[in-house]
Amino acid sequence: MPLYSLRCAALQQQPRTWLITGVAGFIGSNLLETLLRLDQEVVGLDNFATGFQHNIDEVQNQVTEDQWKRFRFIEGDIRDMNTCQQACTGVDYVLHQAALGSVPRSIEDPVTTNENNISGFLNMLVAARDNQVKRFVYAASSSTYGDHPDLPKVEDKIGNPLSPYAATKLVNELYSSVFARTYGFKTIGLRYFNIFGQRQDPNGAYAAVIPKWFAGLMKDEPVYINGDGETSRDFCFIDNCVQANLMAATAGDEAADQVYNVAFGERTTLNELFYMIRDRIAEKFPHAAQAEPVYRDFRPGDVRHSLADISRAKENIGYEPEFSVRSGLDKAAAWYMNSPLIIGSQV
Ligand SMILES: NC(=O)c1ccc[n+]([C@@H]2O[C@H](COP(=O)([O-])OP(=O)(O)OC[C@H]3O[C@@H](n4cnc5c(N)ncnc54)[C@H](O)[C@@H]3O)[C@@H](O)[C@H]2O)c1
Repeated sequence: MPLYSLRCAALQQQPRTWLITGVAGFIGSNLLETLLRLDQEVVGLDNFATGFQHNIDEVQNQVTEDQWKRFRFIEGDIRDMNTCQQACTGVDYVLHQAALGSVPRSIEDPVTTNENNISGFLNMLVAARDNQVKRFVYAASSSTYGDHPDLPKVEDKIGNPLSPYAATKLVNELYSSVFARTYGFKTIGLRYFNIFGQRQDPNGAYAAVIPKWFAGLMKDEPVYINGDGETSRDFCFIDNCVQANLMAATAGDEAADQVYNVAFGERTTLNELFYMIRDRIAEKFPHAAQAEPVYRDFRPGDVRHSLADISRAKENIGYEPEFSVRSGLDKAAAWYMNSPLIIGSQV
């Protein structure tokens, strides 16, 4: 039996109390769904800056009434220390996801990104330390690799951050290692690489490429590729990311005070990605079958290729990604093609 299944079974036998910050967001709501299905007690914190009540409602529809009763939601802001202290009370494990994502947003408004991603992060670290939580797992980012040229990316070789967002995620890692040295409070950072899947927001100026393309192709709108399409990324399905969080939270102390790449470990070009998405959409929306991308200029600051070495996560926390890009896209497509977020409006 895979280690992850064993870990899930053990949790179900002996439920714990978890805090998920950013619970109304894409990754947070998927963590919530898995933990409730495992009969865990969950506290969720969110200020709805970029998250949605409908994500939480959808989770409610996926779990039993008894499981839902184990969830307590706090509408609040990690920039407020009292809220963080209250949220951490009685918690075993923190999965800290709340932050303002998006590189372009941070370039437009670095101050707000800094307040949420650094001051908010520091509040959460202090509150978790004060409440003696057993493990603080936080969302780090592949953007921390910045301009380092090596491929695949290994955790110890990072370059210069290329955006305010990347700088905030690097500072999170610095604070985490300082907290280990200064207070003996050990954390685990998960450097996510382009996570995708159900409940990732397809709308708005800062939408990520996969949900944006699902929406564009379903609505018969132009789909843009920045550059020649040979840019590549290590796209990682959300269920792999959820697994990494649960494995990190429950790993032994020797795995802590570290950061880990969370990815699938393969490169997909934007051109390949476009046709994989188009083929899936065309099964239900025939107009998409002939769609072609519209190429436009490269976006300044975008790195050309990204690929993770995931061996450290495999060895130290037992991470074994179950979904490839293709099998993840199958699941994501099934969700987007039924999502009122897209079909409710225009199709
Ligand atoms: N999605 C990815 O590919 C990816 C890649 C690298 C890192 N990350 C990181 O993963 C985390 C989750 O990302 P996501 O894709 O789910 O984004 P998301 O925007 O869907 O979720 C973030 C959630 O945090 C909440 N939030 C923001 N500021 C808050 C505050 N001050 N107080 C309380 N709640 C607040 C938002 O309302 C939202 O619900 C973020 O830290 C992000 O930087 C994501």
